[in-house]
This record gives sequence, C-alpha cells and structure tokens, in this order.
Amino acid sequence: MEKLVVANIGLKFGMAHLEGALQSGAEVAAICDSDPEALKFAGEKYGIPEEKRFTDYRELLNNKHIQAVTVAVPDQLHAELTCEFLRAGKHVLCEKPLALTREDVRKIISAADETGLKCMVGQICRYTPAFEQAKRIIDSGKIGEIYYAESEYAHDYMYLVDNWRADPKRHGVIGGGCHAVDLLRWLVGDPAEVFAYGTHKLLPQVPYDDATIAVMKFGGGIIGKVFVSTGCKRDYTMRTLIYGTKGTLICDNTSPSMTLFVIGEDQMAHEPQIIPVQVNNHNAPREFEAFANAIQGREPLVTDAREGAKTVEACLAIIESSVSGKIVRPDYDF
Ligand SMILES: NC(=O)c1ccc[n+]([C@@H]2O[C@H](COP(=O)([O-])OP(=O)(O)OC[C@H]3O[C@@H](n4cnc5c(N)ncnc54)[C@H](O)[C@@H]3O)[C@@H](O)[C@H]2O)c1
Repeated sequence: MEKLVVANIGLKFGMAHLEGALQSGAEVAAICDSDPEALKFAGEKYGIPEEKRFTDYRELLNNKHIQAVTVAVPDQLHAELTCEFLRAGKHVLCEKPLALTREDVRKIISAADETGLKCMVGQICRYTPAFEQAKRIIDSGKIGEIYYAESEYAHDYMYLVDNWRADPKRHGVIGGGCHAVDLLRWLVGDPAEVFAYGTHKLLPQVPYDDATIAVMKFGGGIIGKVFVSTGCKRDYTMRTLIYGTKGTLICDNTSPSMTLFVIGEDQMAHEPQIIPVQVNNHNAPREFEAFANAIQGREPLVTDAREGAKTVEACLAIIESSVSGKIVRPDYDF
C-alpha cells in the first residue's frame, strides 16, 4: 500500500495528529504552526527536519506531493483552512467542532461536495475504547431498546480560556460539549428537540455560561440529557449512561472499566458486570488510521463534513435554547 503523504497544521493538540500520522506509517511531508516556538518544539520532538517546517500554511497549498492535511488551529479558523486545503486538492482531517457557525459549516460542506475530497471532522470520542465498546453493546441489542441516554462533558478550563476560547461564539457547549453531543448522536441518534438552562459561576474570564444542562427528545421515544461544565472542580470526565429495556450501561472516557447491568430470567438486573477497557481518551492513531483508510478506500468515512455539521447544529440549538428559554428543534438539513 502506498504511503499517504500528509502535512500537519497547528501543533499544540495537533501534535496528536502528527503522532497518529507517524504511527500509522504515513509520510509527514510538512508541519506548520504560525508560532515559531511551537513549530520548533514539535519539529524537535518528532524529528521533523527544518526544511519541512513552515510558519505559513499557504506555502503548502501548491505542494503537489502533499495529499492530505490535518488542521488543529483555533476553531474560528477551521472553515478558512479546511476550505482552502480542499480547494487546493488536499483531503482534510479538521479538528472538532467542525466550525462555530452554520454559515461556516455550510462553506465546508460546499467545498467538500465540490471537490469530492475526503473531509473528516475529528470527533475523537468515537475512537475512545470505552465508547467503541458501548456502541458495540448497544448495537448487539444486549441492553434492549434504549429509552434514556445521557452524557456529560466536565472539564476544568480555568487556565485554558485566556485566548480564542473566550470568544462568545466558542461557548463551552460547542467547544468541548460537542464531544458529549456527538457521542449521544452516535450512540442513540439525532436529538429532535432540545431545551436547556445555563449558569455562570466559575469562569469570570468568559462571556458565556460555564455550565449548561440540556434535556432532549430523540426519535423512537428516547429521552436524554447532556450536561456541560467547563469550570468544574473535578478531574476530566465524559460520564455516560445508557438505559435500555434489558439493561444499563455506565461508562466514561477516563476509567479502566465500564459497568453493565443485564436482566436475567426473572427480568431483574442483579450483579453488575465490570468490563475492563483500555484508557485512551484521545485515540489519535486510530482516528488518523480511519482518515487514511477512507482516503485509500479501506473503510467508509463516517464523520464527514455533514456529520460534523449535525453535531454543530445540535450544539447551537442547545445554546440558543439556554438563551431564549424555548424548546429548539435542530435543523439537520445540510
Ligand atoms: N479532540 C480533542 O479532544 C481536542 C482537544 C484539544 C483541542 N482540540 C481542538 O484542536 C484545535 C486546536 O486546539 P489547541 O488546544 O491545540 O489550541 P492552542 O491554542 O493551544 O494551539 C493552536 C495552535 O495553532 C497555531 N495556529 C493558530 N493559527 C494558525 C495558523 N493560521 N496557521 C498555523 N498555525 C496556527 C497556534 O500557533 C497554536 O500553536 C481546536 O480546534 C480545538 O478545539 C481538540
């Protein structure tokens, strides 16, 4: 199999993409960060020679050798870089959230449609081993028909928000909460209606609520909720509960096991089953492998631009409901 030739743009969290590319055997033709210090750090850490280091991504647009790029720059720039690289003929793996506005996600979808290139959004929780296992258990029917699902994104941003994350458009529900929203979309489906409340007690440096609760109605009589707290005083978790007619699943992204209750012949669930799982919240190698496989035709691209857009839409609906006090019905027609 021919090696995929990639460039990695944005080298803070984006170092995970670089690592994923290297581990999957791709050829890293270039790395880029507008901050020379970040560029030098990543270059030295991963042994990328100086001639392959760039501070201006535009220098890579016409490089015919590069087939694909990963984009891990501030969310506000996702649309600009993703569209430019797609139009320059490169497949793109863009970090989550795909963008912060409906206008921007539409621009990305148009560029992906027009070029026919792969445009993947990095909803990395779909590769977290506990959540992959949860998906397998749900799809197997073991816990029966789902009637309730909840996920939370609790992550203390106390020292993370003195930058582009303080932009009102980068509300915690879309910035980090998109992980929990995307997870529920993947596990049980698209929320048809959302209603949310927010509060703001922990992060005075941001102009948006730092805690939000959203209740949701999905199709098929499923109800659920997402809780997002970006100022929480605890360790990072995405605690997730799935209730079915034959059992219940309790899992998260940072524990070495998950809990499964399944009913017996008496229709009651008794002892919990403790299932060991690998702790790998940011499974960037597997995410990159999925990107490379999609480009090289070995697996379908699941989190494409439309899938990323739907998660953005559900997040925006939650934010809008928390402001308006009204039920919002997301419009997934992208
Ligand atoms: N999947 C996850 O769990 C996860 C975790 C963290 C961040 N992220 C996402 O990754 C992206 C980057 O987040 P971060 O935490 O690394 O942010 P950061 O601010 O720490 O780093 C962003 C980097 O991008 C560089 N950059 C900015 N503009 C650039 C440009 N025009 N060209 C090249 N480089 C540029 C900056 O110099 C910086 O080094 C965001 O979209 C964020 O939402 C995802």
